[in-house]
Amino acid sequence: MELRSVRKANVADKRVLVRCEFNVPLDDTGSITDDTRIQVCLPTLQYLLQQKAKLVLSAHLGRPKGEPGDEKFSLRPVAVRLGELLGKPVMMLSDCVGPDVEKAVMAMMPGDIIMLENLRFHKEEKKGNPEFAKALATLGELYVNEAFGVCHREDASMLGVTEHLPSYAGLRLEQEVSELSSVLESPQKPLVALVGGAKISDKIKVIKKFLEIADHVCLGGALANNILKAKGMAIGKSIFEEEMMDVAKELALVDTRLHVPVDVVTAKKIATGVPTEIKAAGNVSDDEYILDIGPDTVRLYSMVIAKAKVVVWGGPMGYYELNEFARGTKEVATALSTSGARTIIGGGDTLDAVKRAGCLDKVSFASSGGGAMLKLLEGNGLPAINPLIE
Ligand code: ADP
Ligand code: 3PG
Ligand code: MG
Repeated sequence: MELRSVRKANVADKRVLVRCEFNVPLDDTGSITDDTRIQVCLPTLQYLLQQKAKLVLSAHLGRPKGEPGDEKFSLRPVAVRLGELLGKPVMMLSDCVGPDVEKAVMAMMPGDIIMLENLRFHKEEKKGNPEFAKALATLGELYVNEAFGVCHREDASMLGVTEHLPSYAGLRLEQEVSELSSVLESPQKPLVALVGGAKISDKIKVIKKFLEIADHVCLGGALANNILKAKGMAIGKSIFEEEMMDVAKELALVDTRLHVPVDVVTAKKIATGVPTEIKAAGNVSDDEYILDIGPDTVRLYSMVIAKAKVVVWGGPMGYYELNEFARGTKEVATALSTSGARTIIGGGDTLDAVKRAGCLDKVSFASSGGGAMLKLLEGNGLPAINPLIE
């Protein structure tokens, strides 16, 4: 899939409306706890500045209710951090559309940077409202999408604006699409998918896709509980999704490429300092939770990873936030680091877990998209990427 690259755009002296993925985590005091998403936008922004463009940056933060005024959803902390990283002033506006915004944008000089306030302070953004998209589009002469993490959404700033402006893909967006599409289009074999995390409903489509294209699909985390249960094995009090049982039973449960935990780490409470046990899968008592994959499963998955040419991983193998249940995830992260495979990971918690394991700089590619990565890997494209295809 070839995208129209920002490198092909003539941006000098032009107002470039850049849709950024600045949906970063903030703590209670409003400080950014992880600025990775700002960092990955930098190459595109620096490139545009070198080309003497005027940068009008648009983004969302969190899920405000579509009304302005809630300071905890303001993009101001992002503007401050971005200014520090670029070493240039970033002018923060108090809205993203309207006469005051237009006035500020029309007065820009090449090299100036304006950060618009949270797009989701207007309910029209999420609704993909055409008038809102048009109002945003008046702020730029060109549009660049550098928000891979939002490309599964049909928001006005993602899709509607592209009907009014020549539209290009940012450098990171191009890289995300090329890395993830290569898994689907022409993966080197063996291709191994590791899928874990909380909900099977979030990841069932991707599991099905991988059962079509991968050599091994290794499941872990709470979502594997659904498959164990579908196979008729006892899972005690473990988290699972009742409404997904029929779907889980329809999976090719006897497919030899589908691996579920053969042993698990259990506890009677989800808390730190509790006694834990290692049990064969299926041997879990009624009063226990499955909270991690066991050592035999780690060995099995590590062997599969060691022979892989490409590994894709989304979703932790256990309740990694507590040390007692972090081992499976850590050891799988180590197995990825030491394999010669091309390793691609994604998902907010997966990145966090791999970082805690000290392995983040050892993976080949860490996607900045959570939902967007899963959707792309499902194989049906992403709505906001379609207008950028050459
Ligand atoms: P990602 O953000 O990487 O896509 P998810 O959000 O799907 O991952 O899942 C991560 C969450 O799943 C973590 O909070 C983790 O504690 C939880 N989890 C993983 N395994 C279990 C388990 N066995 N029981 C309960 N929660 C689990
Ligand atoms: C994300 O963090 O996954 C993206 O920014 C999309 O956010 P959303 O799920 O609120 O649309
Ligand atoms: Mg998550």
